[in-house]
Amino acid sequence: MDESIFKLVNVHFSYLNRFSALCGIDMEVKKGEKIAILGANGSGKSTLLQLLDALIFPNKGDIFASGRQLLETDFNDPEFCRKFRSRVGLVFQNPDIQLFCPTVKEDIYFGPLQLGIEKNEAEKRIDKIVGDLGIGGLLDRAPHQLSVGEKRKVAIATVLVIEPEIILLDEPTAGLDPQTSRHIIDIIIEANERGKTIVTATHDLHIVEEIADRAYILNREKQVAKFGPAQELLSDTELLREHNLTHMHKHRHNGQAHIHPHQHLDHHQH
Ligand SMILES: Nc1ncnc2c1ncn2[C@@H]1O[C@H](COP(=O)(O)OP(=O)(O)OP(=O)(O)O)[C@@H](O)[C@H]1O
Ligand SMILES: [Mg+2]
Repeated sequence: MDESIFKLVNVHFSYLNRFSALCGIDMEVKKGEKIAILGANGSGKSTLLQLLDALIFPNKGDIFASGRQLLETDFNDPEFCRKFRSRVGLVFQNPDIQLFCPTVKEDIYFGPLQLGIEKNEAEKRIDKIVGDLGIGGLLDRAPHQLSVGEKRKVAIATVLVIEPEIILLDEPTAGLDPQTSRHIIDIIIEANERGKTIVTATHDLHIVEEIADRAYILNREKQVAKFGPAQELLSDTELLREHNLTHMHKHRHNGQAHIHPHQHLDHHQH
């Protein structure tokens, strides 16, 4: 137990050495944890997930994956690369980046083919995930012809089919209708119950309690403002407001205007 999956020590990243995106992040993810990354637009959530997925590398500071420092040069070794990509999967915030094949079916087959998963096994997994996500009717369609929500479901399928030990999800419920969103959360929770480690960037506070035991809030300075048990962070209304995670409701009662913070936990009372 308590096996370290990722450890970040004073990680800095800037795009093109000009646009600062993360400034000194310390973080640890342990095996089997569910973690949420929260923060305002532009606070660095997607950048953090891309660093964990080794798509980009720190300008300063270190990232350790299972105790071994992640170095760009390691990825020149095809075997290291294959193992890492089999172990860690990222669902991008923008599904258009994830889906690039002429058909949905080819997109879902792409990962297993690339990673050398045996054909029968790949087909078994694909049938299961396509059934679970209810996307059977989309298989012969071109990804660009799908609705945003349909694209997101297909993007999630392209990662889950690889059965990675660590699943990184960037705003997985954005643009999904409430029932589809519920369904995706159930799939994420079920994967975690099977031992998968889950890291989710989201603005959707309604899902945080379910998809996270612990949460990190990033601030505008692109640092960790606070981390701790998800429940604890969620109950700190002032902290959430400070980081654009809750909004003020404005409405009228008996002709008088009222402004109060949006209570994201209201749904538990109904
Ligand atoms: N490709 C890029 N080139 C230059 N700057 C970038 C690029 N991508 C992101 N940034 C900058 O890096 C910072 C962090 O962006 P990032 O996308 O990680 O934030 P985020 O928390 O995921 O935001 P959102 O909630 O809008 O998805 C922002 O200031 C952003 O402008
Ligand atoms: Mg983002």
